[in-house]
Amino acid sequence: MAQVSLRQVTKVFPGGVVAVKDFNLGVESKEFVVIVGPSGCGKSTTLRMIAGLEEVTSGEIYIGDKLVNDVPPKDRNIAMVFQNYALYPHMNVYENLAFGLRLRGYTKAEINERVKEAARILGITHLLERRPKELSGGEKQRVAVGRAIVRKPLVFLFDEPLSNLDAKMRVQMRTELNKLHNRLQTTMIYVTHDQVEAMTLGSRIVVMKEGVIQQVGDPLTLYNRPVNKFVAGFIGTPPMNFVPGRIIKLNGKYFFDEGKFKVKILESMFEVLEKYEGKEVILGIRAEDIYDKFFTTHSSPENTIDVLVEIVEPMGSEIYLYLNTGKNSLIARVRGMVRPPQVSQRIEVVLDMNKVHFFDKDTEKAIV
Ligand SMILES: Nc1ncnc2c1ncn2[C@@H]1O[C@H](COP(=O)(O)OP(=O)(O)OP(=O)(O)O)[C@@H](O)[C@H]1O
Ligand SMILES: [Mg+2]
Repeated sequence: MAQVSLRQVTKVFPGGVVAVKDFNLGVESKEFVVIVGPSGCGKSTTLRMIAGLEEVTSGEIYIGDKLVNDVPPKDRNIAMVFQNYALYPHMNVYENLAFGLRLRGYTKAEINERVKEAARILGITHLLERRPKELSGGEKQRVAVGRAIVRKPLVFLFDEPLSNLDAKMRVQMRTELNKLHNRLQTTMIYVTHDQVEAMTLGSRIVVMKEGVIQQVGDPLTLYNRPVNKFVAGFIGTPPMNFVPGRIIKLNGKYFFDEGKFKVKILESMFEVLEKYEGKEVILGIRAEDIYDKFFTTHSSPENTIDVLVEIVEPMGSEIYLYLNTGKNSLIARVRGMVRPPQVSQRIEVVLDMNKVHFFDKDTEKAIV
């Protein structure tokens, strides 16, 4: 049985806001699951319901094999780390770490052992005498995590714990959280609106939109096989390019017709796409699946398109090209080169038709 299991969980706030709708998820023991989605999609509400800080409107939550709907937060054997750390300002780090254990009646010796161990794991032993105001953001964050670790909970819940840190610190703490998870081997559920954080931390990712789960999967599945346009556009940087157009048939073959360009669809996709003949669909292609024609051996008139270069962004090892077909904009991520294309130049680029996605225009669901 899953360590944490949510079954048809729905949360409606007074006033009628449906924050979470029919949420089903089983988190396995020792798993690191990340819930990701835009602001307001119901991530914190989901986490707070698992923690018991928010009642469910309907559905069931199990921790271990126990139904916890009516179990108060302190008896759920979980520890939560919040975005704002919520440290006690008048206590030093040692006291902050010890406080929860003291409330639970642990002996002094046990408390001392647990606090010292957590401090060692997190590399904050030298900070134990300091007060929160004498700590950097990253150090405060470690203390907040330490307060969860000393409890030795069955499940850790993290609500955007890194969002108050600067970009460099976030990357560092991300690595540390990964290591921590490997070391503690405890179930973790982590909430963020940052898809990069989700991709790098989660063994499984839950993508939410407007209170509803869109897709659950490992990072590469979400990246390579998004079930709908929302997931396709949310996961990945730069976001996937979307181009509206029509499926047409020419000489027994199917093409995607954007208006300014036509590309031939893979024969293996014919069967699923034939019912869209004459209809509008959305083609999705990631920036790295568009090549400068000079750097690929896979070009043919049926996958090559003529575009205008609007912006060139050198990123070092690669270059982002902002292109215009005359109707739609595309971003291509191409290898760094000595003489990159220039703004206002017309170039030919190749779409890797093995990598394109098609979405239904009305439902936005992936067609193939
Ligand atoms: N106590 C509350 N009363 C009424 N509505 C609420 C309450 N708390 C949250 N909501 C609403 O529920 C929805 C989900 O909120 P939630 O805090 O779970 O979003 P979130 O995904 O964590 O967003 P963020 O990334 O901004 O933290 C939002 O529309 C929010 O306005
Ligand atoms: Mg939130």
